[in-house]
Amino acid sequence: MRIDIVSVFPEYLEPLRLSLVGKAIERGQIDLHVHDLRDFTSDKHRTVDDAPFGGGPGMVMLPEPWALCLESILESGKADGRSKPTLVIPVPSGRQFTQRQAEDLASLDWMIFACGRYEGIDSRVADYFAERCEVRELSIGDYVLAGGEAAVLVMVEAAARLVPGVLGNPESHNDDSFSESNEGFLEGPIYTRPEQWRGLAVPPILLSGDHAAVANWRKEQSRERTAKYRPDLLGGQE
Ligand code: ADE
Repeated sequence: MRIDIVSVFPEYLEPLRLSLVGKAIERGQIDLHVHDLRDFTSDKHRTVDDAPFGGGPGMVMLPEPWALCLESILESGKADGRSKPTLVIPVPSGRQFTQRQAEDLASLDWMIFACGRYEGIDSRVADYFAERCEVRELSIGDYVLAGGEAAVLVMVEAAARLVPGVLGNPESHNDDSFSESNEGFLEGPIYTRPEQWRGLAVPPILLSGDHAAVANWRKEQSRERTAKYRPDLLGGQE
């Protein structure tokens, strides 16, 4: 899988080189390229934004540096034998990023993430590249961040751990909150050693060795937790 990320703060994406995603990069399972949008400007101030047409506060990112940068990425991906990437534009006004979206991203061969700052990127960029890329505008939640970078860290990590071979034990996806095998519910409580810790005991059923009973108990706990925190996920099954 190839991932290109464009930002005016390329250092913001450095944490991707740590931990699980970092290991996947080292192993060659993920080919990560981070680009500085300012390298595609031509004035001495390396300007990437201007005032919005129609007035209003804030600044809008200029389309031309984006076009030059995305065209250079498209060329480089083509030379790498890839075609038609998915262009992800993280925006608070986008479609909600969910575990299903993460699973879908994990199946792709090539993704480009365009991190906007300020009020966002001139909307013509998404329209202009819609023929050469599959464009997805995605939001990670109902709140507004200062830019797309933090959202991209979230989306790349959520997708990367689902790429076959990236996570040590693929079965650990099965109990994940939101996973299909968990009926889309939240994961219940989890425990490790010691059995007794500061006066608190592990639920005895987990020590029983009765796998069916443990599975049942986990299902029950998962349903209870979902009813408490996210009744919307029960979909009328309550
Ligand atoms: N950029 C700013 N806020 C965002 C959000 N909630 N999701 C994705 N990108 C964003």
